[in-house]
Amino acid sequence: MADNYLEKRYDEVFGKKTVIRRVGHTLDELLTRNRSTRGYNKDFVVSEDMLRQIVSVNTKIGSGCNRQVLRFKLVTKDTGADKVLQNIKMGAALPELHLPFPGTEPEAFIIVCSTAGDDKLALIDLGMSLQTMSLRAVEMGLNTLIVGAFNKTKICEAFDLPFDPLAVLCVGKGNERFQIVPIHADESHAYYRREGVHYIPKVRLEELEL
Ligand SMILES: Cc1cc2nc3c(=O)[nH]c(=O)nc-3n(C[C@H](O)[C@H](O)[C@H](O)COP(=O)(O)O)c2cc1C
Repeated sequence: MADNYLEKRYDEVFGKKTVIRRVGHTLDELLTRNRSTRGYNKDFVVSEDMLRQIVSVNTKIGSGCNRQVLRFKLVTKDTGADKVLQNIKMGAALPELHLPFPGTEPEAFIIVCSTAGDDKLALIDLGMSLQTMSLRAVEMGLNTLIVGAFNKTKICEAFDLPFDPLAVLCVGKGNERFQIVPIHADESHAYYRREGVHYIPKVRLEELEL
């Protein structure tokens, strides 16, 4: 029987099939799993190479005027994680918890700097970069937390950074449980925890459209 005979015959009789091959995770799965994670399993050590794989997405994403002003400092457990940890704030909406819990601290970080300060295009690039890097991390079975609340001066000094740091991305193997809660736009947007589950309110689609 000729190669592909049955497939060709099938096409003749039933018309051409539209086959959507799913490779890996769907975007929806990645987005759902891409939760801001403030507790990590320290038995899993994130290597510099893993951080580099995450940063590599920046060679493929868009950039305002294609300036590509972002630069990345990779920090692992052995190269100064403690100095980052001392200078970032986590979970400001849950001050009573003092996150992260002892023994669950992140130990790998990507410090994102800009060669062009924090102008509008640099900040848009920053958001795109952070989100894409987070999705890559989730695809690799890791989790992240974007941190905007950090001591810029101390981080700059600690790593002798030549450019302004705009954000820190914590990376690790998360050990938290999450649940997205659909809300109305006028309800509280504050995240909360109950019985070990971290709930994240998200405004319903119908109320996002103008
Ligand atoms: C630009 C930006 C800055 C953030 N800064 C912090 C921060 O400094 N500390 C922190 O714990 N979470 C920070 N977050 C995480 C948000 O609190 C989180 O995105 C929000 O609670 C919704 O949860 P979700 O990311 O799981 O959807 C930041 C998120 C973004 C996008």
